[in-house]
Amino acid sequence: MRKPLIAGNWKMYKNNNEALELVRELAPLVADLDDVEVAVCPPFTALADVSRLIADSGSSIALGAQDVYPGDEGAFTGEISPPMLKALAVTYVIAGHSERRELMGEKDGFVATKVRAVLDAGMTPILCVGETLEEREAGNAARKVEGQLAADLEAVEAAEVAGMVIAYEPIWAIGTGKTATPDDAQGMNSAIRRWIAASFGDDTAASVRILYGGSVKPGNAAELMALEDIDGALVGGASLKAADFAAIAGFKA
Ligand code: PGA
Repeated sequence: MRKPLIAGNWKMYKNNNEALELVRELAPLVADLDDVEVAVCPPFTALADVSRLIADSGSSIALGAQDVYPGDEGAFTGEISPPMLKALAVTYVIAGHSERRELMGEKDGFVATKVRAVLDAGMTPILCVGETLEEREAGNAARKVEGQLAADLEAVEAAEVAGMVIAYEPIWAIGTGKTATPDDAQGMNSAIRRWIAASFGDDTAASVRILYGGSVKPGNAAELMALEDIDGALVGGASLKAADFAAIAGFKA
């Protein structure tokens, strides 16, 4: 049985103090949600203190990072390595978010090395895939997403994919207030599961968690989270408000 995951991607919001405040507010709101895993992905600058707060308060909130550089250590100015994240008790690492692909020019080959590096360090990648509006309107959404999966999972074994998280995030739905229709979201998530089955086997497909992301908020979460192949959400904007994020998690609990 797949345990649903509701992960908050805080992006470049919340300084260290604000991050601690948000976690203090969130922790009691999600403390009784047994059947869903709740994770937060603060900016790098807040990871150490948030990690300590979670440990000291005994909260079950899991910690995630928004990105990583695929190398253990070295002369990579400005970058953060998987072992550095692991040392802060980080569990999840987002790889291939569309903002990094589009704004920082990250290509599939690079995303694939990040996925590999996160697994090698004993953490769980949240691999983001998704199409642009142009690609969807041209009927190329599934082809785009399957191409990303093939490239980004190239160096990963079936047993590893089984423990991974994949987030389907249509680029046109991120931060825009536009959400995929339930049919489109379920359709793509089930297409992703079928692709995983064909590439890595049925058991892997049955285990891998596939999230939906893109303008998920309390008002649309109930409908989206009820869909068969949606194992949770990657939440941006609405994860910055404790009550909204907890409400979304509550729909999957
Ligand atoms: P959003 O962001 O919920 O603000 O659309 C989702 C994401 O980028 O992960």
